[in-house]
Amino acid sequence: MRLGHGPMTPVPHRVVGRREETKDVMTLSVAPLADRPMVFRPGQFNMLTAFGVGEVAISVSSAPGEAGPLRHCLRDVGPVTHALCRARVGDLIGVRGPFGTDWGIGDLDRSGGGDIVVVAGGIGLAPLRGAVEQLVREGTGRIFLIIGAREPAQVIFADDLRAWAEAGAEVAVTVDVAPAGWGGHVGVVTSLLGGSRFDPARADAMVCGPEIMMRLTARALIDRGVDPARIRVSLERNMQCGVGWCGHCQLGPLLLCRDGPILPYAGAVAHLLTERER
Ligand SMILES: Cc1cc2nc3c(=O)[nH]c(=O)nc-3n(C[C@H](O)[C@H](O)[C@H](O)COP(=O)(O)OP(=O)(O)OC[C@H]3O[C@@H](n4cnc5c(N)ncnc54)[C@H](O)[C@@H]3O)c2cc1C
Ligand code: FES
Repeated sequence: MRLGHGPMTPVPHRVVGRREETKDVMTLSVAPLADRPMVFRPGQFNMLTAFGVGEVAISVSSAPGEAGPLRHCLRDVGPVTHALCRARVGDLIGVRGPFGTDWGIGDLDRSGGGDIVVVAGGIGLAPLRGAVEQLVREGTGRIFLIIGAREPAQVIFADDLRAWAEAGAEVAVTVDVAPAGWGGHVGVVTSLLGGSRFDPARADAMVCGPEIMMRLTARALIDRGVDPARIRVSLERNMQCGVGWCGHCQLGPLLLCRDGPILPYAGAVAHLLTERER
């Protein structure tokens, strides 16, 4: 939280960049009008306001300390994300945050050279981008990225994937539907987990995507021998206040804006992932 603003007050930010990732996914770069740049941890989210339309939870997709403005990557699914995706350079939007838990990469013990396994489905790579960027930059240990998308044209952050692979990360992309000429994998992300060369006994995993994908991925990782407490997943529910006041994001005993969205896939969370949103 920044000084001088309550947690419910959107801070005006100017759109300084737009990048079309796919036909319905946009990365918006924003800069505060007056404040200092936001301090956040990878995996945290902001509440973005399209003035006159509404407010939505969107993960920060920048890495801490990364040069340039603050990035958010949005899929145009409804009225608010549509308005934000249509914002032009120079327009103002509101930003409040950062909120929620993070991927905990500061807590990982990389001294033993443990592996990091990142599994993302579709827009699920957006909350993970900052974590991967930071881990690649730090260059300690091996990173295995398994990215799933409906089709090749739906893969986001293609330039980052190339750069991370050049920096030594093992990057595998799989699609549900392959057009003619696609030479890569076809199938769900779990079909790539068996052949991935990470060491399960020393691996930490971060998983983000549709809930069924996270559940099946977590099970496949556990079957390979990864400790459930070292698997983190992102639980997203509709959010309003973002600060634990309104109860909109309640899931079992958790308020996901405060206790999540990122949680270890152990104990209660494995069960809660089977609960449908009401
Ligand atoms: C912590 C958190 C981080 C998020 N990060 C991102 C992000 O980085 N990029 C991004 O594009 N989206 C992200 N989302 C999802 C985003 O908040 C919703 O897509 C958004 O609220 C939709 O608002 P809308 O008014 O545009 O559409 P609405 O009219 O509210 O919804 C349109 C469709 O999207 C579905 N939807 C609404 N909210 C969610 C949700 N939370 N999760 C999944 N589906 C939803 C609805 O069921 C409906 O089918 C995040 C959500 C949370 C809780
Ligand atoms: S969004 Fe209000 S309590 Fe979580």
